[in-house]
Amino acid sequence: MRAYYFDNVPGDQRLPHDYVPSRPVAPETLAALNVRFWTIPVEGYEPQLDEIARTRGYKNRDMINVSKEGMGEIYEEKIRTFFQEHMHEDEEIRYILSGSGFFDVRETPTDAWIRLAVAPGDLLVVPAGIYHRFTLDEADNIRALRLFQDEPKWVPYNRGEATDANPHRMEYLKSIGVGA
Ligand SMILES: [Fe+2]
Repeated sequence: MRAYYFDNVPGDQRLPHDYVPSRPVAPETLAALNVRFWTIPVEGYEPQLDEIARTRGYKNRDMINVSKEGMGEIYEEKIRTFFQEHMHEDEEIRYILSGSGFFDVRETPTDAWIRLAVAPGDLLVVPAGIYHRFTLDEADNIRALRLFQDEPKWVPYNRGEATDANPHRMEYLKSIGVGA
């Protein structure tokens, strides 16, 4: 998984949006934001994924498949929705089986976007309460496993005053040492 600062240049969200030269983000920076990731080769991934799932308590999983081909007309609308800045009250855990895409996470307190370019074999944990968004890239397809504990609370709460005051948002800020 490659991590770098998003260039904020207006235009297609599916483009890399990498500064020239690129501004890479160190793993320690991601760790400080409570973003976790592992790389597990897709071929024979199950034992390693099962082990991480067991230690982190992810009892369930399902598969999602997002592609221009498979979704037809609603595709454009759907990927615009994914790209709205939001947070959840649970972790968002994805293991990429094929295809690729970008998760953008907000760095706090700078409020900069960090772009995470995910590819097959990447396992990513987006913590509860972090502002983030997702887009496919120009290849327009991704197939991933979603892992979760019980009933996942994946309702997207768009960024705003009310969401800023969400207890899970406050809890997140506390966990990274920002805010009260
Ligand atoms: Fe999300």
